[in-house]
Amino acid sequence: MPLDHSPRKIHIAPSVLPADFSKLGDECRALEDAGVDRIQWDVMDGQFVPNLTFGPDVIAACRRHVQVPFEAHLMVNTPEVLLQNYIDAGCEILIVHAESTMHLHRCLTQVAEGGARAAVALNPSTPISAVEHVLDLVEMVLVMTVNPGFGGQAYISTMEPKVRELRDLIVERGLDVDIEVDGGISPDTVADAASAGANVLIAGSALYRDPQGLAHAVSDLRERAEAAQVAGR
Ligand code: DX5
Repeated sequence: MPLDHSPRKIHIAPSVLPADFSKLGDECRALEDAGVDRIQWDVMDGQFVPNLTFGPDVIAACRRHVQVPFEAHLMVNTPEVLLQNYIDAGCEILIVHAESTMHLHRCLTQVAEGGARAAVALNPSTPISAVEHVLDLVEMVLVMTVNPGFGGQAYISTMEPKVRELRDLIVERGLDVDIEVDGGISPDTVADAASAGANVLIAGSALYRDPQGLAHAVSDLRERAEAAQVAGR
């Protein structure tokens, strides 16, 4: 069977970290209207990362305002105790950090048993070997391109070889798994990330600082990523 190296569909997903937290429902509607493919909720517990954001009730309050899928990026310790709360809040995808649980295989299995789609995340220093035995349980691997906890940080370009290595592993195994990158994704970095093999692109600051607005920012990132896929093919 020939290996499938064909480029995967580009998904643009905003982080809501830079959004106006006093009106998150409106902000979600604006993001959906701008053409995003999903919305990522950066869930932080102040332990796994030195920041604290939102719980399931905040997400649940926004769920009814939009139709796009929600994904919860669980930057939390012991994610096992919270999984069902985020599923019940309306998150279709749960992203569990490989570093956050002693029992990653069991945790990802619990996500699927709870009725959600499972994904796994890797901090910059964590090798892809940490997820090679759970790739069959996930639809996506998130390769962090910043150290998690805050928006507006600089893109860590040394993660690109890691994305390439992961892409090769996924293709070699014949798996249907997306690669997401998160942190410092902007018009200046998105092409390199897509060329390396990432097809789900999380952006926060870059979307909100575009002087031409959210819709332009989303379409510009998408076009740059798709062009890079074609060039890199
Ligand atoms: C890190 C956060 C950020 C955020 C996006 O924990 O998850 O990566 O989503 O940040 P910027 O502003 O770099 O797009």
